[in-house]
Amino acid sequence: MDNIQEEASNTSYSLFAKLLHWGFVILFVYGVIKQVGSINQLEDNALLRFEVLFAGVFLLLLAVRFAYVKKTQTSSLPQETPKIQKLAAKLVHYGMYASLVGIAGSGLLIGFLYGQGFQSGLLIESIIGVHEFLVSLIYWLIGVHVVAALYHRFLKDGVWSSMVPLFKEQNKES
Ligand code: HEM
Ligand code: HEM
Repeated sequence: MDNIQEEASNTSYSLFAKLLHWGFVILFVYGVIKQVGSINQLEDNALLRFEVLFAGVFLLLLAVRFAYVKKTQTSSLPQETPKIQKLAAKLVHYGMYASLVGIAGSGLLIGFLYGQGFQSGLLIESIIGVHEFLVSLIYWLIGVHVVAALYHRFLKDGVWSSMVPLFKEQNKES
């Protein structure tokens, strides 16, 4: 995503990039709603298999998204955006990708260990701790990301409309 933040060009994201962005918002919300409420629920073999499949597909699609966006898209931050703000956006975007990989990856590890008979104990509990920590971290990052997006909507600098199909700005952005 280096080119995203450094060659800021205020262009719009492609339809595919928007589909991936909003598709992941839906997938993530679904993952949170369907979350495993307690480790004991994994006794249900069908649930364990579904969770592992979900996390595997999630990771694969995330890799496709990251590769596509990094290769083909540029940030819509205006050229004159202060360097520190470009860096902050980059950190939050990378942070969200890393957290998503970490959440699905630790989930897969929990599923694998559970299947191997590590149904309690320090090992699986530590990984659940990491899983939960990353969930809290991404909530914060998403919060910052959405506040920043709203701030850009208020500035009417085209960043909001480059990704969000609702409440589009009337000026600057077509
Ligand atoms: C993208 C995939 C996943 C998402 C979005 C997700 C999301 C979550 C969320 C939101 C929580 C609650 C965290 C909290 O309350 O602090 C959680 C907890 C947990 N998840 Fe996941 N998860 C995913 C994959 C998995 C997988 C594949 C497994 C294992 C098969 C798993 C096992 C667990 C367990 C054991 C807990 C802790 C439950 C407890 O409170 O004891 N997760 N997950
Ligand atoms: C699960 C929640 C979300 C995640 C994980 C997320 C993640 C990302 C990421 C990684 C990017 C960089 C482009 C890319 O790689 O696709 C991005 C761009 C963007 N997102 Fe989100 N997003 C989420 C929700 C939202 C919401 C709810 C809004 C608006 C209300 C929003 C508005 C934007 C905007 C305006 C951009 C363009 C920013 C720029 O070009 O610098 N996002 N998002």
